[in-house]
Amino acid sequence: MPSTTPTASCRARVPEPAPVVSAFVASPEPFKAPIGTRDILPPESGRWTRLLAEFAQVMHLAGYGFIQTPMFEDIAVFRPVGEGTDVVSKEMYDFFDKGERHLALRPEGTASVVRAFNQHHPNVPWKVWYAGPNFRYEKPQAGRFRQHHQLGAECIGVSDPDIDVELMVLLWDFFCTIGLSGLRLSINSIGDLETRHGYYEHLRAYLDARRDSLDPEDRRKIDQHPMRVLDSKRPDTREAIADAPTLLDVMSGVSRAHFERVRNGLAAAGVPFEIEPRLVRGLDYYTHTVFEIQSPALESAQSAIGGGGRYDGLAEALGGKAAPGTGFAAGIERILLACDAEGVFAEKGVHLDAFVVDLGDGSAARDVSAGLRRAGLSVDRAFDARSPKAQMKAANRSGARFALIIGEDELAAGMVTLKDLRSDVQQELVPRENLADELRKRLS
Ligand code: HAM
Repeated sequence: MPSTTPTASCRARVPEPAPVVSAFVASPEPFKAPIGTRDILPPESGRWTRLLAEFAQVMHLAGYGFIQTPMFEDIAVFRPVGEGTDVVSKEMYDFFDKGERHLALRPEGTASVVRAFNQHHPNVPWKVWYAGPNFRYEKPQAGRFRQHHQLGAECIGVSDPDIDVELMVLLWDFFCTIGLSGLRLSINSIGDLETRHGYYEHLRAYLDARRDSLDPEDRRKIDQHPMRVLDSKRPDTREAIADAPTLLDVMSGVSRAHFERVRNGLAAAGVPFEIEPRLVRGLDYYTHTVFEIQSPALESAQSAIGGGGRYDGLAEALGGKAAPGTGFAAGIERILLACDAEGVFAEKGVHLDAFVVDLGDGSAARDVSAGLRRAGLSVDRAFDARSPKAQMKAANRSGARFALIIGEDELAAGMVTLKDLRSDVQQELVPRENLADELRKRLS
């Protein structure tokens, strides 16, 4: 049984344990992962790590370094994500820790990255990428989880619209690298703050005139967050706002020029896009460029496999100096669902060079597998003194190229029988001391 004694460093702060009455009471049923979460097991997990490696490669080629921020933050860090958004007002996992600090599991990555930027004052442009879990108390369904995982990137300190283009092109190219096709990139500009305040007046007047046709949930947003109404997926609302005024109609010259440069940049990179004047995104910190990439292979409510945009006021909102920023994030679960639907980026089984079958007490399997692994070969073995037949079955099932059979005779002669598992007959004796080289020769 594992020891439950506290380690020396934490013993001082841990109260004396209560006397143990019984070791444990067995649960009547095996536990399951919480609703809306998932275990990611082999072989799917192998595809997951390959996806991360591909993404890291794409981002490193463009000068982005890896960042990891804590999974929880002071809840106030997430306020600029939007008090009026579902993500902040309804879906946040918040709690008080033992020091009465009000914390929240991060619902998204951008606010934490900007908080880290303000805290550490790195040189700009600051280009970072990340991968990790996010938590939103949503209604779970296919492609929508309470713990989902994102790949993302942010660039802080650059106002140039070319960086918006760089990020969109990187995300688009990453999706192409893994084999996704038929994707749709929608872009929009929601202008600067000044433009938006003027626009709110128009939009409120328009929505007020149609108040009764809107879904009651959306009606409540008219005063505080009229643009959120445009983001509604509810059919009544969608019909009522079909010809709502768009921000593009009232945009300032600066915003207009920014958006034009973005469109030209995407065209120059050969990335197809559509302008979607109603795209406002579900988070409040955006300014100027916003975008989303949809996979038509997924159900429409969960078809966004990635999205992002510019957030020029966020650093200040989080107590730092003014610094423009832009970025994106993409949901790993949804990317892999889209890959399944398109039949690309398939799972690959675990690759093994050899599997040791020990007909003795297991010591030879222990020593040979350790030695071969140190020599850089991938090797597995059976445990618990399984029968020779069971070990051969395990060797075949493991996907290994060779079985390394060590019986009494081989042990005495310092040899190993090397059996090619892709052929029924081929097997030969090789000296144990040259085993790594002999295997390498045959594998190459
Ligand atoms: P977001 O659109 O909220 O943006 O999330 C990014 C992506 O995460 C979505 O496109 C989707 O693929 C995935 N996703 C979101 N929620 C879920 C969920 N409940 N289950 C499964 N997948 C989900 C952001 O989070 C921004 N921080 C993106 C950004 C970065 N903007 C600027 N920089």
